[in-house]
Amino acid sequence: MSHKITLIPGDGIGPEVSAAAVSVMRASGVKFEWESFAAGAEALRTHGDTLPQNLIDSIKRNKLAFKGPLTTPVGEGFASSNVRLRKELDLYANLRPVKSLPNVKTRYEDVDLIVVRENTEDLYSGLEHEVVPGVVESLKIITEKASTRIARFAFEYARREGRKMVTAIHKANIMKLSDGLFLRCFRSIAAQYPEIEARDLIVDNACMQLVINPNQFDVLLLENLYGDIVSDLGAGLVGGLGVAPGANIGEEIAVFEAVHGAAPDIAGRGIANPTAMIRTGVMMLQHLGEREAAIRIQTALEKVLADGQVLTRDLGGKATTFEYTEAIIRALE
Ligand code: NAI
Repeated sequence: MSHKITLIPGDGIGPEVSAAAVSVMRASGVKFEWESFAAGAEALRTHGDTLPQNLIDSIKRNKLAFKGPLTTPVGEGFASSNVRLRKELDLYANLRPVKSLPNVKTRYEDVDLIVVRENTEDLYSGLEHEVVPGVVESLKIITEKASTRIARFAFEYARREGRKMVTAIHKANIMKLSDGLFLRCFRSIAAQYPEIEARDLIVDNACMQLVINPNQFDVLLLENLYGDIVSDLGAGLVGGLGVAPGANIGEEIAVFEAVHGAAPDIAGRGIANPTAMIRTGVMMLQHLGEREAAIRIQTALEKVLADGQVLTRDLGGKATTFEYTEAIIRALE
């Protein structure tokens, strides 16, 4: 059986790392039929829209997409196509595992936590306006519906994966209404999962605790903005953005994408680390029920990292994206 999947190679290093991940998945023996589309800056040039309708239709049909990063201009220009995509497809949960890898030198060796980020509201509502010249208002939207839904997702995930604790991270001491509502929803859902420990922590303290002792955490539940920031912090704990995978999950549709962005500073040079995209592919294979292929790819990846002979520059090696990918494919065989 072949899996039909929408492919968005993306901007910057996107085409390099997604091609690497696609070739590793192909080498695992699983059959795919890819429907490839431009999005972001490239689609704006070619189609006059960062998210062309035929791309959205393809994802709605296939229920699954594998996506590279998309460029969003800072301070001006078009709105984030990532945020639009997540909202349009109601991909309400962003799942970002933070797990140590063999031979990837970091301050801690055995980090294993998971960031669950609410993906549809908060300050990412994009509702900003200039009240009077020199004064800008940006609206933070928090709803009971979305907060309850993401809290339930986090506890269901914890239950399914045998995780022991969910920590909600917030700033309800200052944003008493918005973060207060998020926290109330968390507590009321937590009461329905008595076997899972529920804690909560203020976001600034949580960042400090994560850097000092990440192993005290298990599942982290955050609103959109804190989740964005804390997941990059998490990536830094286990080797950087080059290794951090992710998934955007909705009721019916899932879009798999790494945590990192388009990395314009290294784009087109063939040196990007495809580990994050390959691990994102592993998450997608698990979602598809292709457990054996997922385990084989993860094992091959860990073998190449442990050997330490063929590593990309961000991990202290000299290998190109292509050489590193080929080493993983060889390790699969
Ligand atoms: P970035 O993640 O693109 O890069 C941050 C740093 O990490 C850079 O030094 C980069 O070289 C390095 N890096 C990232 N991925 C790497 C990889 N696979 N291998 C080796 N090094 C890697 O973040 P930045 O610079 O803030 O954003 C650049 C663009 O990407 C912006 O337009 C931003 O909006 C977009 N972006 C898109 C995302 C998405 O599509 N999901 C997520 C984050 C940013």
